[in-house]
Amino acid sequence: RRFTASLEALDTAVPPARRVADRFAEVGRSAPGRFVSTPDTDPSVAANRVWADGILSRIDGSTLSIDTVAAARVETEAELERIVAGTVEAGERWAELGAAERGAILHRAGDVLEERRAELIEVMAAEAGKTIDQADPEVSEAVDFAHYYAERGLELETVQGATFVPARLTLVTPPWNFPVAIPAGSALAALAAGSPVLFKPAGLSARSGALVAEALWAAGVPTDVLRLVDVDEETLGRQLVSHPAVDRVILTGAFETAELFRSFRPSLPLLAETSGKNAIIVTPSADLDLAVKDVAASAFGHAGQKCSAASLVVLVGSVASSPRFRSQLMDAISSLPVGLPHVASTRMGPLIEAPGPKLREGLTTLGEGESWLIRPRALSDDDARLWSPGLRDGVARGSAFHRTEYFGPILGIMTADTLDEAIDIVNEVDYGLTSGLHSLDRGEISIWLDRIEAGNLYVNRGITGAIVERQPFGGWKKSSVGAGAKAGGPNYLVNLGSWLPSAAPS
Ligand code: SER
Repeated sequence: RRFTASLEALDTAVPPARRVADRFAEVGRSAPGRFVSTPDTDPSVAANRVWADGILSRIDGSTLSIDTVAAARVETEAELERIVAGTVEAGERWAELGAAERGAILHRAGDVLEERRAELIEVMAAEAGKTIDQADPEVSEAVDFAHYYAERGLELETVQGATFVPARLTLVTPPWNFPVAIPAGSALAALAAGSPVLFKPAGLSARSGALVAEALWAAGVPTDVLRLVDVDEETLGRQLVSHPAVDRVILTGAFETAELFRSFRPSLPLLAETSGKNAIIVTPSADLDLAVKDVAASAFGHAGQKCSAASLVVLVGSVASSPRFRSQLMDAISSLPVGLPHVASTRMGPLIEAPGPKLREGLTTLGEGESWLIRPRALSDDDARLWSPGLRDGVARGSAFHRTEYFGPILGIMTADTLDEAIDIVNEVDYGLTSGLHSLDRGEISIWLDRIEAGNLYVNRGITGAIVERQPFGGWKKSSVGAGAKAGGPNYLVNLGSWLPSAAPS
């Protein structure tokens, strides 16, 4: 296992083992400048890439090792009980601090995350295969969450006639694919609302999660208010989710995991952002050059392993019948630099692990009437995580590829005669997380906005990389389970506690 630190180590100090980070200290850090997450059309992104290139190209070797994780490995029910009780107790002091003092600590957390940008990028690259162009804005997103929730926390205390009572204990269970931004956002939200947090990082990217916790501790969040725990998911995981003291669970992961959690405890107060099967529609009025760029970036950023990724593009009318869009898209995809994540020019890195049966099927098996425009290839005999991107044509309505989330680097083309038909095709899937339209026609945009069933809608932009405050993130249908308010939006924190009527003035 990747978790080696003992429970006691967590209680006493931020554990030291940081080989990767030490190497950073040796090469020194350059100031990245302020870089709040922006779409990649922003010139500051280019400047930032040059910075990242300068630092990371100085790290020798192609494999980076992740040695230790500062998580408490919880082996017994008694230990778990002790941690839960200790965190609840520490949480009472955290709640009493008040929003202003908590807010100051959380703003500082944003600053510390910013200071540790290079280290976070490097560990995400090493551990999760994140390319620099993905990991860099992910740090920005975490920084944005800190400052944003610090401010929203202040608002919870200003409502007249009601008092906000924070959740007694919030369990945060993030996914491996956004190992910094999602745990940071989830934990910061709960902390801003005044609730203590048990943070169980994803096993595949636990070191990145530990760095997030370390940054928050360094900013002044007490180590017993934000506890990093590692539990065996099969045994104590169930106990933790079912624990009566845990009165909120923030889960980001597969729909099936949310269902499993609910089966442990039907009344579970869950805030779950789950799976997606997301599409971009391209109409004849679109700027096709822009559409090609946005479709390729949305489909193959982080090798398609985002719940927000595009895995379908629906071509309407003449875009479907003429060869131009397909041919440009094939050029764009086949020229994507595929390679090691910490090389600055790489645009598609490795999968987090060798493909499981479902993804393998998506990468290798065609449905009826489908053909490969670009066949995905396994790139290495030694490393089953390295794949090239794939593009399939002729995906039929109702087929497996139309409806299944594969979570990997494959994009399917569907066609429709009209925009309405394209919208029907997109709405037929069970999920509704992100959705895109490329069109320069206001009438089309308005029809699409009225009819499309998804939580995050993007017009003439890629469909990944939601920006805190500007694009609060969350889905519809099977992309969301439990409380529905969107992360990074104005109503998220109220889910992390309850309003009680204030005593009437005498
Ligand atoms: N918030 C991420 C995105 O928008 C997904 O979790 O891509």
